[in-house]
Amino acid sequence: MSDNKKYTVTEHILFPATPLNLEALNKAVANKRILITGGSFGIGEQVAYKLARAKANLVLVARSKEKLEEVKMQVEELGGNVEIFVADLTNETELDAFINKLKSEDTGIDIFISNAGKSIRRSVFDSLDRFHDSTRTMALNYFAPVKLSLALIPQLLKQQGQIITVSAANVLLIPAPKWSAYQASKVAFDQWLRAASPELRAKEVAVSHVYLPLVKTRMIEPTEAYKKFPAMRADHAATIVCKCIISRQRKFKPWWLIFGEIGSVLFRVPIEFFMKNSNTK
Ligand SMILES: NC(=O)c1ccc[n+]([C@@H]2O[C@H](COP(=O)([O-])OP(=O)(O)OC[C@H]3O[C@@H](n4cnc5c(N)ncnc54)[C@H](OP(=O)(O)O)[C@@H]3O)[C@@H](O)[C@H]2O)c1
Repeated sequence: MSDNKKYTVTEHILFPATPLNLEALNKAVANKRILITGGSFGIGEQVAYKLARAKANLVLVARSKEKLEEVKMQVEELGGNVEIFVADLTNETELDAFINKLKSEDTGIDIFISNAGKSIRRSVFDSLDRFHDSTRTMALNYFAPVKLSLALIPQLLKQQGQIITVSAANVLLIPAPKWSAYQASKVAFDQWLRAASPELRAKEVAVSHVYLPLVKTRMIEPTEAYKKFPAMRADHAATIVCKCIISRQRKFKPWWLIFGEIGSVLFRVPIEFFMKNSNTK
């Protein structure tokens, strides 16, 4: 259940511990109903456990029924209340059925954690017959959270709620080769929500963008090159998401990302030259 992998020295420096005030978290989630998309594995699963300890009321949605049932058992053991829904959010009929279910209930959603995501790392030359890589990443990483947000905004307005998006640090950097489908879809929702957030904030709905570095989940397992990269633990990423519930802060990004952002502007030409000439497997 927990993610006990130890950090290396480099990882300790890159990902300093995030203190979490449990009393403040208990208070922030008391009588709130929290939707986590992708609550069956990885970051979403760990967020569910952290919120369960704060006795939160959770709604989890993902495709893997058995895994969701396991998570439900753990959440209940930890003291949380949870409802699980099995749905493929890329399937319009299943997404609509899930949305209709949420809309038909008396108890609305107070906090929407948009976490479900799919990544694909593939060269554009290996993608020539794979337009579906773009449609499926857009379906999950962009269209599903947009449709859910639009459906939930009336409920969030009533409860001065919050939308938290689990985004990626690369969204703020020079686009990396081989990530075109994934990166475009993550940028799309990030931009959509950034554009919507002044309107939402004006009506007391908080919006938080969590720009995560590499995180040790099954998402990065297929990428050989990432086995040796420093990566955050999923439970640490979950702590950051929980901290955003307490603080309702606009964004989280790792302390060092600002240097990448500045470098992306100042050193764009050499970085692009390096990218053109590197051939990371
Ligand atoms: N891992 C990283 O390095 C990293 C870095 C930055 C940002 N992120 C972001 O973090 C979020 C969580 O990723 P993760 O690393 O925790 O990955 P993960 O372990 O693969 O978890 C992804 C979650 O999304 C759910 N999901 C996938 N496809 C779905 C679909 N079609 N319908 C409904 N649910 C679906 C999965 O559940 P089922 O398979 O049961 O459906 C799972 O619960 C993603 O938005 C990702 O972009 C990850």
